[in-house]
Amino acid sequence: MFNQAIVRRPGKSLVNGITTAGLGQPDYQQALDQHDAYIDALQSCGLTVTVMHADEHYPDGMFVEDTALVMPGLAIVTRPGADSRRGETVSIKKQLAQFFDPVEIIEAPATVDAGDIMMVGRHFYIGLSERTNEAGAGQIIQHLNKHGYHGSTISIREGLHFKSSISYLENNHIVVTGELVDKPQLAEFNSVVIDSADACSANSVWINNRVLVPAGFATTSQAIAALGYEVIELDVSEFQKLDGGLSCLSLRF
Ligand code: GLY
Repeated sequence: MFNQAIVRRPGKSLVNGITTAGLGQPDYQQALDQHDAYIDALQSCGLTVTVMHADEHYPDGMFVEDTALVMPGLAIVTRPGADSRRGETVSIKKQLAQFFDPVEIIEAPATVDAGDIMMVGRHFYIGLSERTNEAGAGQIIQHLNKHGYHGSTISIREGLHFKSSISYLENNHIVVTGELVDKPQLAEFNSVVIDSADACSANSVWINNRVLVPAGFATTSQAIAALGYEVIELDVSEFQKLDGGLSCLSLRF
């Protein structure tokens, strides 16, 4: 179960965020409205939400998930793969120090975006991507091992992050799409396979037996509801324009 979440408000500078989506420029007011609804949804799942102020220096700063890996008794502040995002971690580290001891850090030349890391109990699947390198995965696994957790790597070629294409929904369920569908490392899971046309919805978020699903993907919502979960659909169109999704917008612990 999760009790807490940390989010950061989008700034007006989000129009300058990194993107490959080709969906046009995000609208600031609409992004704020969607972020409000996201916070409401986290609260409705029983979480206490810490809301950090926007930081206009960091157009992608609302995607806080990339900046830290959090779990019971341990936080690891990452070293994001994109130069423009590296400074986001300074304020995140201070925020996490209010909840975690220790707060470990990833050091150069390693890079890690925690959007590449999926927690399954005490095991962490780490996607090796354009943002997360071997050295980064190695440092993450060293920190995990010191604290009784473990990790393993999976190379990916598609999507921004590993979790752009997969989500763990607890009880051995995953939603998964694209190149990850046939990965032998994931064969042990009960897979809900998402059609490539609905790939965005593979980024869904389990929180305390409810699942946040991006709006507009009825087939995915129905499949997740059939697993026995209450589904909360949320419009994240403005964040999808920046290659972001539901999980990217919070740290949950
Ligand atoms: N726009 C989110 C990212 O590229 O990290």
